[in-house]
Amino acid sequence: MKSRNFLPHVITFNTEKMQDRELESNLMQDFRNVWHPCTQHKDFESITPLMVERAEGVYLFDEQGKGYIDAISSWWVNLFGHNHPRLNAALKDQLEKMAHVMFAGITHQPAIDLASSLVKLSPENLNKVFFSDNGSTSVEVALKMSLQYWQQTGSETKTRFIYLKGGYHGETLGALSVCGLDIFRNKFEKVLPKNLEVEGPDCFRCPYGLNRDSCSAECFDPMEEALAEKDIAGVIIEPLVQGAAGMKIYPPVYLKKLQSACDSHSVHLIFDEIAVAFGRTGSLFVSGALGLQPTFLCLSKGITSGYLPLAATLTTNEIYSAFYDDYSSWKLFIHSHSYSANPLACSVANETLTMLSEDGFLATLEPKINLMKQMGQQIFEESKWCGEFRQQGMIAALELVQDKKGKKSFSLENRMGYKVFLEALKRGVFLRPLGDVIYFIPPLVINEDEIKKMMDTARECIAVVLD
Ligand SMILES: Cc1ncc(COP(=O)(O)O)c(C=O)c1O
Repeated sequence: MKSRNFLPHVITFNTEKMQDRELESNLMQDFRNVWHPCTQHKDFESITPLMVERAEGVYLFDEQGKGYIDAISSWWVNLFGHNHPRLNAALKDQLEKMAHVMFAGITHQPAIDLASSLVKLSPENLNKVFFSDNGSTSVEVALKMSLQYWQQTGSETKTRFIYLKGGYHGETLGALSVCGLDIFRNKFEKVLPKNLEVEGPDCFRCPYGLNRDSCSAECFDPMEEALAEKDIAGVIIEPLVQGAAGMKIYPPVYLKKLQSACDSHSVHLIFDEIAVAFGRTGSLFVSGALGLQPTFLCLSKGITSGYLPLAATLTTNEIYSAFYDDYSSWKLFIHSHSYSANPLACSVANETLTMLSEDGFLATLEPKINLMKQMGQQIFEESKWCGEFRQQGMIAALELVQDKKGKKSFSLENRMGYKVFLEALKRGVFLRPLGDVIYFIPPLVINEDEIKKMMDTARECIAVVLD
């Protein structure tokens, strides 16, 4: 007999929808048995999770058929909308041939095609693709490859990584050891490998009083100092946008300085483009668009346009060659996941890359980016609660503050962002904020009317909650 399920003394699902007995019973079942990610389940005493029955284009549909714009692309993964005929066809086609095989001692065409496309489309120095199955893991792979490379090339003392305050690279323990956000790491601090956190750019509250568009990354000094330490294996960074930190955006000049400092200190540069690649910032890869050449490039999320879990860590021939030797030398990279390079995922990723690379697709984003800019800027100017509007391509964010001039945040207990989220749900937009940062990362195929609805809803909900 299983032990009794945990149930709090009262659990009444408190939404208008609860006239529906079947839905209530399904939600109760969810509550009994499911533990959702990044969720305080006690919240379900006052608000139920959205039960999504199907999804189409940029919309999620609940059981009553009500549509919600997926304003954050289902945790930033979806590029071409839900239920896309071409992606469905790629998946079905592969399914007829083979769902899965292991990827050691076996290879398959979908993975070969995907690796060669990624190599072709990414910066010139990247030639090798190591597949895994989620973003955190692609980061683990980069960290482990970097450490092992230094061990196998006579630099055994290079064992620490530099990461930025506010940086986020996933939630497995290795990835947490390079995470600069306390809420994710503080409970695990004692067991994490000791890496080195440095103060990075904070453009909204720039300590130098400079403007993002005209600065020269004066804030680079702490990084320069950290790089002078003798035991640094690599630097890991989210290029241009620190996503989980609240879509904090900083200028390319910081990355350019970082590339040259890493080169001169012989330190690996790890670009975590898990959230920003595949068109999010308006280009395929941030590294490529800025002419930068990281030693490792971590990719996941949009790689399958939100269909299936897949990740890739790209690196150079130089790194690869340090692992290439007789078996008995034990220089091989011992890291494996059962679902590495899953053929279904690779097939959908191949179609995703084809669609992204089709003539003119990235150019279709331009008017959408401009509309988001115009509307976001207007909300910022009109609302006394918006401390900043920031944007990088198809990623945009409004940071709510208590005091616009002093840029003072609300205290966390107020949960202002969460209240805006609940209001937006009533109005058919799924905006899941990061604290008090209301942000927009819609599927790239969102149209202008949908952008208007998404951003007008945010404007209205901010006013309803805060005015
Ligand atoms: C920049 C970045 N790196 C790594 C990850 C971790 O990816 P996953 O959630 O697939 O493990 C995320 C997820 O949000 C991310 O934004």
